Amino acid sequence: MHKDDYAAAVPFYDLWHEDGHVPTVRGLLPPLLTEVRRSVLEIGAGTGLITELIARETPAEIYALEPSLGMRSVLVNRLASDPSTLRRVTVLPYGALDVEVDEPVEAIVMISVLQSFDAEERAALWRVLARQLERGGRLVFNWRERAEPVPGDLEVLGSYQVGRHAYEVAGQVLEAEGERVVSRFVYRIRQHGVVISEDEVVLTNHWPTRERLVSELEAAGFTPDPAPDGMEVWRLP
Ligand SMILES: C[S@@+](CC[C@H](N)C(=O)[O-])C[C@H]1O[C@@H](n2cnc3c(N)ncnc32)[C@H](O)[C@@H]1O
Repeated sequence: MHKDDYAAAVPFYDLWHEDGHVPTVRGLLPPLLTEVRRSVLEIGAGTGLITELIARETPAEIYALEPSLGMRSVLVNRLASDPSTLRRVTVLPYGALDVEVDEPVEAIVMISVLQSFDAEERAALWRVLARQLERGGRLVFNWRERAEPVPGDLEVLGSYQVGRHAYEVAGQVLEAEGERVVSRFVYRIRQHGVVISEDEVVLTNHWPTRERLVSELEAAGFTPDPAPDGMEVWRLP
């Protein structure tokens, strides 16, 4: 069974990320998907915020891969609100290293997922993704150079009103060494300031340097395409 690091985050996810990378990606991704007509594989579709965008911007059939049961439940329920999208999206309930689609796809989209893979898993990931992509197909993901994280105290990262309650996300870096960063996230619901629910997750993420990323992708047979700041487009020649 998949270890679900995202379960505690699910009720907070859309509230917090609508405040973060999702609006940026809504601006940057569509021009990178023009000409994609037939098929897209989305890796780590989460609650479907990006799936919805891909479905709106392309007429393609979509494979939305998401291993977390909690995140995937929101994704399927989001799709269910629009029957035509529901018919077009196949939800794959496992991790990226296990994917094997029926026919190679025109494009692979992976938004805010790369950090889940350590260096060894990334090498396998690029090989698996290269196998899913047709010749000339594109791999699109978001990536940016990050300042070296520094371990520190727990800080509130966002707070959102839901009826009479406040949904609060707090986080802190516990350890940082090389590309490996261990962070603690605390998800709280407050009623009149008093905590009535609290869940905690400790996550290990991996943030490779650009140099490292380029050498891994080239070793897997990808070549770079122009992309706006914050996004990466790589093709299989
Ligand atoms: C930060 S969320 C991003 C979700 C969505 N792409 C978005 O931008 O809203 C990271 C997602 O990656 C998924 N994930 C973690 N490990 C994964 C793996 N090995 N294969 C595929 N997805 C994975 C998580 O379950 C989570 O839904």
